[in-house]
Amino acid sequence: MKIVVTGSLGHISKPLTALLLQQGHSVTVISSNPERTSQIEEMGAKPAIGSVNDVAFLTATFKGADIVYLMEPPFNFFDYNLDLDAYWINIARSYVQAVEQSGVTKLVHLSSIGAHRNNNVGILSIHHEVEKLLSQLPATVSIKTMRPVGFYYNMFAFISSIKNANAIIQNYGGDEKEPWVSPIDIATVIAEEINRPFTKRSIRYIASDEVSPNEVATILGNAIGNNNIKWTTVSDTEFISNLVRAGFSESTASRFAEMNAGRRNGILYEDYIQNKPELGNIKLADFAKEFARLYNA
Ligand SMILES: NC(=O)c1ccc[n+]([C@@H]2O[C@H](COP(=O)([O-])OP(=O)(O)OC[C@H]3O[C@@H](n4cnc5c(N)ncnc54)[C@H](OP(=O)(O)O)[C@@H]3O)[C@@H](O)[C@H]2O)c1
Repeated sequence: MKIVVTGSLGHISKPLTALLLQQGHSVTVISSNPERTSQIEEMGAKPAIGSVNDVAFLTATFKGADIVYLMEPPFNFFDYNLDLDAYWINIARSYVQAVEQSGVTKLVHLSSIGAHRNNNVGILSIHHEVEKLLSQLPATVSIKTMRPVGFYYNMFAFISSIKNANAIIQNYGGDEKEPWVSPIDIATVIAEEINRPFTKRSIRYIASDEVSPNEVATILGNAIGNNNIKWTTVSDTEFISNLVRAGFSESTASRFAEMNAGRRNGILYEDYIQNKPELGNIKLADFAKEFARLYNA
């Protein structure tokens, strides 16, 4: 099949492209960076260089595709001038227009845990709005919505407080398990969905492992040879101040605090728990080796 992959050779899109090529599909990869051209070609895929904000470019690239994988590239949290919601809504609007104009009828869309509601999930409520926009596409367009949980790579943000204070400092913690996911497992699930029949609309959660905050501290600590790391829970106010000191705007910091509060009060995972997926192959202990490499670099 002819498949278009957004997200360039990013964490998910690179392994996804490799899997789809192995399976004999023809893959076009969208990147905003012309320098990525040769790397995409070397993999055996076709580069399409342009922006996900450019409707004409997207329309031309989607035309003739059997399936398109859509993702909204992450924004720069440290950019005070960026309206985070508007940034993603504009991309989603471009996707909607390009899908309509190109005639593509099968989409796999990367959304997120937390997209099931538009409140009390902090920063993740953007995913709810993006899902809502895409859902307004004509009923002839099938959409498989992928809702991965938090990525392991978010844990790289713990490195500085481990180095400075032997601690992971968040506004939630404890012994209750929560899900985490590897982009490789996400790519595997998306490839699986691409090869399955499409019917109307569906939602699938994706997770690799379930571990508690205290277990995370132990597993990452073991990987870096430090058994004294503690997961420390602070108040929302202190957490927000820490993020602001690290360079976040007050508003973005508050939205992260609210997202984490959703982990404490059960809101964030309420729909995941009702629709639990089979866990993927890559466990926290596997990611911990990558964590240790970066920690020691
Ligand atoms: N972190 C989490 O816990 C979490 C949880 C749930 C869902 N998610 C979702 O996962 C996404 C991240 O996926 P990922 O890690 O695979 O992404 P990623 O590795 O950051 O790759 C995204 C790529 O998109 C390309 N890009 C950026 N701006 C572009 C533009 N304007 N036009 C075209 N391409 C552009 C960039 O490559 P080029 O430089 O080559 O263009 C970038 O490397 C997030 O955006 C979020 O939606 C994240």
